[in-house]
Amino acid sequence: MNCMTFIIAIDGPAASGKGTLSRRIAEEYGFHHLDTGLTYRATAKALLDAGLPLDEEPVAEKVAREVELSSLDRNILSRHDIGEAASKIAVMPAVRRALVEAQRHFAEKLPGTVLDGRDIGTVVCPAAPVKLYVTASPEVRARRRYEEIVGKGGTADFDAIFDDVKRRDERDMGRADSPLKPADDAHLLDTSEMSIEAAFQAAKSIIEASLRRNA
Ligand code: C5P
Repeated sequence: MNCMTFIIAIDGPAASGKGTLSRRIAEEYGFHHLDTGLTYRATAKALLDAGLPLDEEPVAEKVAREVELSSLDRNILSRHDIGEAASKIAVMPAVRRALVEAQRHFAEKLPGTVLDGRDIGTVVCPAAPVKLYVTASPEVRARRRYEEIVGKGGTADFDAIFDDVKRRDERDMGRADSPLKPADDAHLLDTSEMSIEAAFQAAKSIIEASLRRNA
């Protein structure tokens, strides 16, 4: 790993606010940003589009190795069925190995990188000088997702979204390979009662203390 690169690892469950926070931090420091969830989603979409099975590890691994990090489109990949399929293939060790390799390569970009996902601080970049674990209660996360959909003029069923958030948590936290959990040295940010601005300010003071130590 290039020791001149400053890596910020951000993990947390679905709809915790980690994506918005990561983009904001990357913008503030002029760092490259990778939403690693999009790499799992791109793999899942390629399988769905080709009519390939979601439960055959060698097939999914081959597709994962072909994912282009430079062409990940959030608008297309945010589809609900793609998210569901992504969390199914994310349990496969061979798929994870392929995507983690590409993510580690991305993490070396200068002058610094922000990677967000589920296993950045624990597996992808365990030596990152800054690790944040962003969380919020399942009710708050479901409420945010509900308001986001309704805010865009769509219709949504809160109970269905709530069940979905809990199911996704169970799958992400319960899998054997790289389960979602805070790294031992991660700073916890519970955004249940915190605005994105407050979370950003809290993250900024943690990052600045670390930048001073690394200067
Ligand atoms: O964060 P997002 O909802 O886009 O991620 C989609 C799915 O990809 C997650 O539910 C999770 O199962 C998987 N994922 C993962 N490890 C990561 C990022 C995402 O297993 N680092």
